[in-house]
Amino acid sequence: MAVVPYKNKQEGKKEQVAEMFNNISKRYDLLNHVLSLGIDIIWRKKAIKLLQKDKPKLILDIATGTGDFAIEALALNPDKIIGVDISAGMLEEGRKKMKKRNLEHIIDLQMGDSEKLLFEDNKFDAVIVSFGVRNFETLEKGIADMYRVLKPGGKTVIVEFSKPKKFPMKQGYNFYFKYILPRIGKLVSKDDSAYTYLPESVQAFPDGNDFLEVLEKVGFKNTKCKPLTFGISSIYIGEK
Ligand SMILES: C[S@@+](CC[C@H](N)C(=O)[O-])C[C@H]1O[C@@H](n2cnc3c(N)ncnc32)[C@H](O)[C@@H]1O
Repeated sequence: MAVVPYKNKQEGKKEQVAEMFNNISKRYDLLNHVLSLGIDIIWRKKAIKLLQKDKPKLILDIATGTGDFAIEALALNPDKIIGVDISAGMLEEGRKKMKKRNLEHIIDLQMGDSEKLLFEDNKFDAVIVSFGVRNFETLEKGIADMYRVLKPGGKTVIVEFSKPKKFPMKQGYNFYFKYILPRIGKLVSKDDSAYTYLPESVQAFPDGNDFLEVLEKVGFKNTKCKPLTFGISSIYIGEK
């Protein structure tokens, strides 16, 4: 059964995920940086560096949220970055951020579903996702559509939480994710479920080689996984 944010509601995962992110959008950036002690920023930067040699000019940032991964991708000096997300609330916060930083001409945030992208085949030089794929309703469908819109020879770079395997990180991480993070998350975001959904969805998500198998199944080649910070997160790379 799919892990969903609000277990007693009838809607599917996609509607629930959009609702949850709408609920927490105003506090999302703050919570991200507090709960990860700022490490999330370093993870996104590391992931973007992996595209430096490719010099992608047109980039698609899937599940862009408030646009932080798109902003990091500016380091690649692209002509345009399009960010898509299913949460109107997250996009609204993202657009405010772009306006404040005068980035609207280069970062375009649009409503869009990873599983039904409204772009033609072979359009983008790179397709990137940070902390988004875990939330897809149908993972393989989302990854397959990312593959479809990527140009042949283009790369995808995906950052997602993973499960540390070794003592003592595994135990420490489980304790933090299960007992500390949901309490702080609930207090600050005022959403009872969002930060219990986070550890549950990470637990249910196929990480490491299991995720590489999904990438390969839809056609990605030369796939690699690079664990970050004892395996708390991982970067996945694939080529079309
Ligand atoms: C944890 S946030 C990540 C936001 C941003 N990428 C970051 O690194 O901060 C996950 C985002 O995925 C979006 N999302 C979930 N499923 C999606 C889908 N099928 N298509 C597009 N966006 C989706 C959510 O609305 C949410 O904004």
